Amino acid sequence: MTRYHDAFPAHELEHNSSKALLIDGKNILICNAGGEYYAVDNMCTHQRAELEGGRIRNCFISCPLHGVRFNLETGKPMGQLTNVPLNTYPLQVSDAGMLQVAV
Ligand code: FES
Repeated sequence: MTRYHDAFPAHELEHNSSKALLIDGKNILICNAGGEYYAVDNMCTHQRAELEGGRIRNCFISCPLHGVRFNLETGKPMGQLTNVPLNTYPLQVSDAGMLQVAV
């Protein structure tokens, strides 16, 4: 059975912003992309830069270091620098408005 961990209240995350936290020892990034929430690894697959604070447009986040764009839904990168996808994690919003992630 999938076990979800409480992260933080959904209202704390503004549109097109992201916030990282450790869940079960993993560095997870939760993103609000225009009102849709996603959870991915907070680590670029190109050169180990954290993705937190990267620009979010539609359902893509850009790495702050060299700009690779990752699809937040699938984890897939665009461009030539890396073809390794990010891990993505199931996320839900509880009845009380808490973001919950399964890692
Ligand atoms: S480290 Fe992310 S694009 Fe280079």
